[in-house]
Amino acid sequence: MEANDIVSASILSADFGHLADDIKAAEDAGADWIHVDIMDGHFVPQIALGPVLVRACRKAAKVPLDVHLMVDDPGNRLETYVDAGADWLSVQIETSPHIDRVLRRIRELGAHPGIVLNPGTPADSIQEVIDLVDLVLVMTVNPGYSGQSFLASVMRKIGDIRSMLDAAGSSARLEVDGGISPATVAQVVQAGADTFVAASAIFKHGDGPAAGTRELIEAIRVARG
Ligand code: DX5
Ligand code: ZN
Repeated sequence: MEANDIVSASILSADFGHLADDIKAAEDAGADWIHVDIMDGHFVPQIALGPVLVRACRKAAKVPLDVHLMVDDPGNRLETYVDAGADWLSVQIETSPHIDRVLRRIRELGAHPGIVLNPGTPADSIQEVIDLVDLVLVMTVNPGYSGQSFLASVMRKIGDIRSMLDAAGSSARLEVDGGISPATVAQVVQAGADTFVAASAIFKHGDGPAAGTRELIEAIRVARG
């Protein structure tokens, strides 16, 4: 792992009866951020988490919160999530015809704006807003559930976005989310990702979230050579 790499532990697979303990275990083992997935039952089929949970994570976590909105009409909910404690707030580009305004508003509210692309969304769809974001999140599964298999078909897009960010002189983070584990992480490191979301690999690890976090960090370190 390079000093610049970030592991973002996605609580979607955590034990909600012991959420604070799971967060602490991941943090103490080296997770840099806590990733919180917000799902509205429209943009994605499932309903999951919301501002109450973001607030609970803010209380439990020492590290920044990385909030991923999988909701229609995200522009109406930005303030709620920043107030609840989102440090990084990412919106799906497919959800809003006014994405420029939404991203500017996130920054005005004091959070880091991020833009997210589904597997079927082309890299160049973010070209016009690349200067507005601090993070680009390339979904490596179709969003909606944890525990899905990594889609190798998005590998080329990760590389394309790395080139777009470099060409724009952007220092935005390049995050990947979905099916990230010690077995899949090397290829996304090679493609140019520097920020790694994982739910199952951390919170469903047989030896607990601390072991899951450590194994992922070690796999990233090995991949960096
Ligand atoms: C998927 C969510 C992910 C999910 C990842 O829709 O955005 O953050 O929690 O889960 P894993 O790491 O199990 O694929
Ligand atoms: Zn996510």
